[in-house]
Amino acid sequence: MASASPLLLTFFCFLLLSFTILTTSPSSLIEELNRPPPPDFAATVAANCARDPSLRYCNHSADLPNIYKSTVVARHLCVESRNPDCNRSFPRIDLRSRPNLAPLYLSFAFFWAYCPSSVLAIDLANNSLAGAFPSAILLCTHILSLDLSDNTLAGDVPVDLLSNLHNLSSLNLSYNHFSECGSDCAPFFRLFNSSSFIHSGLRQEDHRHSSEITATVLLLTGVLACIFFLLCIVCVLVRRRKGDRYQFTTEALWEATRGFGESNLIRKGEKEDLYVGRLRNGLQIEVHVQRGRFSKAFRKAFEEDCRSLLRLRHRNLAKVIGWCNERELLAVVVQMAHICSVDEWLLLQSPPWKQRLKVLMGVVDGVCFLEEHWPRVGYDIRTRSISLTREIEPLISKVRVGNSDSESKKVRRLGLFVLELIANKRPREIFEAGETGLIEWVKVQFPAQVKKLIDEKMKPTATALEQIRQIISVALEAAADASSSTMSHVCRLLRKACAVDQEIHKQTRSRSHKHY
Ligand SMILES: *[C@@H]1O[C@H](CO)[C@@H](O)[C@H](O)[C@H]1NC(C)=O
Ligand SMILES: *[C@@H]1O[C@H](CO)[C@@H](O)[C@H](O)[C@H]1NC(C)=O
Ligand SMILES: *[C@@H]1O[C@H](CO)[C@@H](O)[C@H](O)[C@H]1NC(C)=O
Ligand SMILES: *[C@@H]1O[C@H](CO)[C@@H](O)[C@H](O)[C@H]1NC(C)=O
Ligand SMILES: *[C@@H]1O[C@H](CO)[C@@H](O)[C@H](O)[C@H]1NC(C)=O
Ligand SMILES: *[C@@H]1O[C@H](CO)[C@@H](O)[C@H](O)[C@H]1NC(C)=O
Repeated sequence: MASASPLLLTFFCFLLLSFTILTTSPSSLIEELNRPPPPDFAATVAANCARDPSLRYCNHSADLPNIYKSTVVARHLCVESRNPDCNRSFPRIDLRSRPNLAPLYLSFAFFWAYCPSSVLAIDLANNSLAGAFPSAILLCTHILSLDLSDNTLAGDVPVDLLSNLHNLSSLNLSYNHFSECGSDCAPFFRLFNSSSFIHSGLRQEDHRHSSEITATVLLLTGVLACIFFLLCIVCVLVRRRKGDRYQFTTEALWEATRGFGESNLIRKGEKEDLYVGRLRNGLQIEVHVQRGRFSKAFRKAFEEDCRSLLRLRHRNLAKVIGWCNERELLAVVVQMAHICSVDEWLLLQSPPWKQRLKVLMGVVDGVCFLEEHWPRVGYDIRTRSISLTREIEPLISKVRVGNSDSESKKVRRLGLFVLELIANKRPREIFEAGETGLIEWVKVQFPAQVKKLIDEKMKPTATALEQIRQIISVALEAAADASSSTMSHVCRLLRKACAVDQEIHKQTRSRSHKHY
């Protein structure tokens, strides 16, 4: 008990000063620190030092204000550290998990300078303490135990000062960010158990470990970045390939149509011009071109429409193979398989009834297919806009999404097409009233003078004539009284009338179910 009496003496001082401190708080502490020492303080100190000259402050009597303040802090800190009897002893500074208080007490340099020799343990763990090692606490040279674990302290650990604490037997610096200490520290490390330095940053292993983690993280990040990068490239390539396949640039079409030249212009329309051309790969194409200034929304809708048209597949529908979607030029690109239009064919070849019937059946098939499966797709059935392949298969080539034509207009168009096909008369050229003129003319002749309605070069047999009579009857009604009929009805009647010739019927039935 050699140290008992100086300890008690130290605390006499507090005892003498501890007038009415029952509660302690940072604000009351600060308030107290701002007060001057009591008048008899110098005498108290002198008395204490007379009794025990080894007291720390005894050689610093000139520093009376700081000595006073340090006793104030000691009293508060003893209470905060939940020591059992602060009137008599102050063995522990325990500020574990007190992040609001620890930095405040650490900042009182005057206190640490006169650190009471009674203090044997300091615990400042888990306080989010940052910055350099708090060297001031090492002025408490008597301590047996120091815990600074679970903070974010960085920089060097003052190993020399620590080594000077001869009675220090328990140290915890774990879980901090100290700088690595190499072979110089080996003797120091040996003084303590390795669990004093877990993840402290001091030992090489911590760094090896953390650098391993860093390397792993970097590697993983790198690998992920690479994968992401590759995926991006693949996406871009896929999109470009997709684009390449169906999207034509103006330049590509310009090249294919010889600069949209006169010789490649087939038809000039109000909204649309039709060109023929040849792609680099040799494929012959038809290009339906619209020129103007198109809004973003319009172009988007156009492209969506074209994507729908790509899926349109029927023997009697021209095959859409792509489009061009640029600000001043929109185009639908169609695979060309025709040698001429129906009106040219009628004019130049005056084909026999069997062939005309085949063409009629094809057109009806194509129209029925669109009506049944693609009601939103519009089409144009005129003798001049329907093309023929080498095998005399009709192709409806002018398809577009967004069916703006009324049902009766389509019915009338189909009726007129049939009449033209049979009569081989171009209404606009022959009749003053155009199409209405043609209808009136047929009405007058039919049915009595049916032979007059038929292209004379056709020379039909008696059975064929009967069939033609039926077909004209359907077509005339459709053309003249379109509003009282529907496409599906007219298609059905025409199919029935066409099917009278068994041979053709068989041929077409097997065909009409083959929508490839
Ligand atoms: C105070 O000073 C004296 C002589 O100057 C010395 O012997 C003594 O150890 C000192 N005490 C302390 C606590 O430093
Ligand atoms: C400490 O001292 C004060 C006044 O000097 C007294 O009021 C208090 O009861 C004492 N506390 C203990 C635990 O002895
Ligand atoms: C650390 O301190 C926080 C409060 O600051 C507390 O919630 C937590 O439980 C403490 N952790 C440990 C291990 O003591
Ligand atoms: C260490 O402890 C011994 C007694 O156990 C004591 O005599 C000595 O003064 C202490 N050393 C320091 C530096 O406090
Ligand atoms: C370190 O000390 C703790 C107690 O403080 C003990 O449980 C542990 O076994 C010791 N470890 C080593 C490696 O000595
Ligand atoms: C130091 O503190 C850490 C975390 O609180 C703990 O895991 C370790 O056992 C402690 N080491 C010692 C020697 O007390």
